[in-house]
Amino acid sequence: MNDFLQTLYTRRSAKFVQAPGPDQNELALILQAAVCAPDHGCVRPWRFKIVQGADVPALIEIGIRAGLDAGSPLPEPKIQNARKWLARVPVIIAIACAPDPRGRIPEQESLLSVGAAVMNMLNACHSLGYCGFWSTGMGTYLDGVGEALGFDALDTRFMGYLSIGTPIDPLPEKTRPDYREFASEWHAAPLGD
Ligand SMILES: Cc1cc2nc3c(=O)[nH]c(=O)nc-3n(C[C@H](O)[C@H](O)[C@H](O)COP(=O)(O)O)c2cc1C
Repeated sequence: MNDFLQTLYTRRSAKFVQAPGPDQNELALILQAAVCAPDHGCVRPWRFKIVQGADVPALIEIGIRAGLDAGSPLPEPKIQNARKWLARVPVIIAIACAPDPRGRIPEQESLLSVGAAVMNMLNACHSLGYCGFWSTGMGTYLDGVGEALGFDALDTRFMGYLSIGTPIDPLPEKTRPDYREFASEWHAAPLGD
């Protein structure tokens, strides 16, 4: 086992975090990790908005507005839970994908590249002593949310929020599955006689 694998294997998500969060230098390191994600055709589909401090709690207002506009208001208990959660989160990176405008690279590959970028950020957070959590609540899939965050409404797909900070409570034990449940060998068929 080397240090890098040790970091990968011990990463955990934690939703309920508080300060300290990453400072501006650490945030730059985290975001630089994002743009090291694999990216077919150099589409550079990653789009992020950095939301910090007093701006974080305002994110729920976007979801509330989008729910009302869509005619499916966010349930009040969800709103209250989100307010309580956001009140302590030091940093959120809002995530969007801008697929290849020329359509050369399938959109799915750009979405996967953004997913890989978020994974890199989760690992970077962990390596710096913070915990990240990718969520797609707060109206992520409602029209208007990405736009309200400043993403281009026509050219991007909003993909949720990466919250970052220090876990409020100790994290419970977590056992990862054995990879052999999901991986098996493939062998070429013998050449026909
Ligand atoms: C695209 C995506 C969206 C997610 N959205 C939510 C969410 O809205 N709410 C939630 O509780 N977990 C959500 N999760 C799961 C958590 O981010 C996290 O992966 C999960 O709690 C497992 O934690 P772990 O990373 O320590 O294994 C999402 C995960 C992904 C990949």
